[in-house]
Amino acid sequence: MIKIDEYVDIRNHCTLKIGGQFRYFTVVETQSDIQEVINFAKEKNIKIFILGGGSNLVFSSTIVDALVVKIQIKSFEIINDTDEYTDIKVGAGENWDAFVGRTVDMNLSGIEALSAIPGTVGATPVQNVGAYGQEVKDTIVSVEVLDPEAGSIKTFLNSECEFAYRDSIFKNNAKNKYIILSVTFRLSKGEHKVPDYPGVKNYFQDKGIINPTLLDIRKAIIVIRSTKLPNPVEIPNVGSFFKNPIVTTQVFYSLISSTGEKVPFFDVGGDKVKIPAGWLIESVGFKGKDFGEISVYQNNALVLVNNGQATFADIEFVRNQIIRAVKDKFGITLETEPEFV
Ligand code: EPU
Repeated sequence: MIKIDEYVDIRNHCTLKIGGQFRYFTVVETQSDIQEVINFAKEKNIKIFILGGGSNLVFSSTIVDALVVKIQIKSFEIINDTDEYTDIKVGAGENWDAFVGRTVDMNLSGIEALSAIPGTVGATPVQNVGAYGQEVKDTIVSVEVLDPEAGSIKTFLNSECEFAYRDSIFKNNAKNKYIILSVTFRLSKGEHKVPDYPGVKNYFQDKGIINPTLLDIRKAIIVIRSTKLPNPVEIPNVGSFFKNPIVTTQVFYSLISSTGEKVPFFDVGGDKVKIPAGWLIESVGFKGKDFGEISVYQNNALVLVNNGQATFADIEFVRNQIIRAVKDKFGITLETEPEFV
């Protein structure tokens, strides 16, 4: 029997600590729990909203009129093991970083640079989590989901997930249609790559590490992230608040000539470049800016932090201030990275 709570404070269930109440809230640990959830939602004629770790969600300060379901389905199963790779099927409710740590201990590569990212395994395909040159799309074999309408289980192969930068079918056509039950990853036993990032390279240089192991890389990423991203347990935040805008090279060059600024960029192919949103926000003078209940983080302009009592209106105000300032100076409209509910 699942336990369903009513009028639950959202702030205890998301890392930004903003939000009103969940009309109904429950935790599921097994697939059979899910059937009960579906029955309850049908009976009350209410929609289901799936929650992972709540680390990439911005809730409004009202009541979320839904049955909010926190997925805590845990499992870890090696389903295929060859000389080159290991396929692991992982329950959606497993803690992401604990899973990364476990695969590094097994000497498997592919997700080591995604260390120290908050949240659950099941949330990672939704926004194709990425950092330091790795994206989950490069190791995901398939995503197993439950279709609550049909009551059946369906598997999305990697090619069917429509993965792109911070994007997938689960944010678009398949949004809110399925409950992710497990994700299967293919991790490599071969040579691993050292992230081609100045911060990571400098770290190894300073430590005198020439051939970093997977564990060295994991440790480096944990240290580097902790300097740029506040620990959500201490300072409420949702990581990057904006996506790095991708523009055509033509737009980029006209931007450089009109502003006269040395705008940094990363070539992403297809005649397009990615511009660091953190740099754009810093260059309009907002890094470390205190808006009262919300501040732009002092060590990273891409992160907004809740100083304790912020409401949705506070975060919305700051979001709009930043979007407007960047638009006025660079003509680029920033898009938010977390999901707004
Ligand atoms: N930058 C500034 N000022 C700032 C922040 C950044 O000038 O205040 C510049 C940096 O100097 C750097 C560039 O922006 O040249 C890029 O910064 P960084 O490499 O730290 O990465 P990011 O673009 O800020 C992205 C992801 C992060 C991920 C890092 C590491 C997005 C939206 N964010 O951030 O993901 O950890 O790369 O690879 O793509 C998240 O999604 O929540 C997240 C933290």
